[in-house]
Amino acid sequence: MAKKERLTTESYKGVRDFYPQEQALMNYILLTMRGVAERFGYEEYHASILEPAELYKAKGSENEEIINDQTYTFLDRGGREVTLRPEMTPTVARMVAARRREMGYPLRWYSIPNLFRYERSQRGRLREHWQLNVDIFGSNSLASDAEVIAVAHGVMKAFGATDSDFLIKVGSRNFLDSIVQTLNLSGEDAKKLRGLLDRKDKISNEDFQSDMQALGVAAEMLSPEAPPPDVAEVLGLLREMGVENAVFDPSIVRGFDYYTGVVFEVFDTHPDNNRALLGGGRYDNLTALFDTEPVVGVGFGMGDVTVRDFLAVRGLLPEYLPRTKVYIAVAGAPFVKDAIHLSTALRKENVASALDFGEKKLSDQIKTASKHKIPYLIVVGENEVKSGEYTVKDLETGDEKKLSKTELASFFLHVN
Ligand code: HAM
Repeated sequence: MAKKERLTTESYKGVRDFYPQEQALMNYILLTMRGVAERFGYEEYHASILEPAELYKAKGSENEEIINDQTYTFLDRGGREVTLRPEMTPTVARMVAARRREMGYPLRWYSIPNLFRYERSQRGRLREHWQLNVDIFGSNSLASDAEVIAVAHGVMKAFGATDSDFLIKVGSRNFLDSIVQTLNLSGEDAKKLRGLLDRKDKISNEDFQSDMQALGVAAEMLSPEAPPPDVAEVLGLLREMGVENAVFDPSIVRGFDYYTGVVFEVFDTHPDNNRALLGGGRYDNLTALFDTEPVVGVGFGMGDVTVRDFLAVRGLLPEYLPRTKVYIAVAGAPFVKDAIHLSTALRKENVASALDFGEKKLSDQIKTASKHKIPYLIVVGENEVKSGEYTVKDLETGDEKKLSKTELASFFLHVN
């Protein structure tokens, strides 16, 4: 008889399963991001994971590495080329362009989509991640550039970060363009320069310097005494908004070709986690792909993977607390019905309770409660049924409290 082939329990490479504790952390991350975006007046939107592949091939949204090597693209049964979205910006540009005339500007939108990139999995980089996208459309004011950066700063603070835990680096495509013009660089060389700056931290200083020399760019050109006017204004506005940890960094250029103005990235200052936590910038022509009149945009994307790493190295991960407040164990199979009655009554009062079906001995039932980190335990047995009084045990401290059935709900609604 042929040996039965066993399936692996491993998930697909570079994606994650979210077991309840990881999902609870994910919910915390999503809730924190959402809270800050909404406090700044942003509205949530959403879209499908699937997009026509041409959305990413269109001129202007082009990023060669992402398009050629990093998309999940396939043919559907009707022969259409489909891509799992690698980023949200082309999607949101499409959505805004589609209803351009009916929108109220400035338009403040946010979303937390999952994105797919066929990348080499490593610390901080996976093939599926969730990314907070915060964007403003329809404003040319540098105050809108400053505002989205302030939202990013606000999210970091809401995670418990201090200003010294992270640094906001602000660059400018305009500044880079002025260098390109001064040196009269060809389109090809301008692109090379951008790519080189984008890779600056990934290559040796020697290689960086010699490649710069080959392009004829002197190091001094990239370190002017004062930031260019757009960056200086954004930094000034940020200070007005209470954001002090932002600096000009001429090497911030961003990989995507669609950026046209101020660009920025936020870095963890911890040496064990020196990846960009988020990145964004101004893109003034992206909606023009769909319409003749462009709607200008500025925004950023912040991934959950790097945020998790940030929280972990800083000791900022929240403690896991399940939603379930109390585990109801039974002293024997005859009491299962009584336990059902008790949990039904508690649920009616909005107390989340989970019930044991009495298939194992009591000590094992208690172990189950502990494994799920449920904070309280009630055992239903003969005494409880007769007296109508229940002993609530705090499974962490071992403290016990006797309460009547009617007192239980208010007890649980008032404990954490
Ligand atoms: P991005 O720099 O490609 O920008 O991604 C933004 C952030 O998403 C990164 O800083 C990182 O935290 C996270 N991220 C990106 N790729 C991965 C990955 N493979 N694994 C884990 N995390 C990742 C954009 O996507 C722009 N569309 C953002 C934007 C919005 N610009 C304007 N509006």
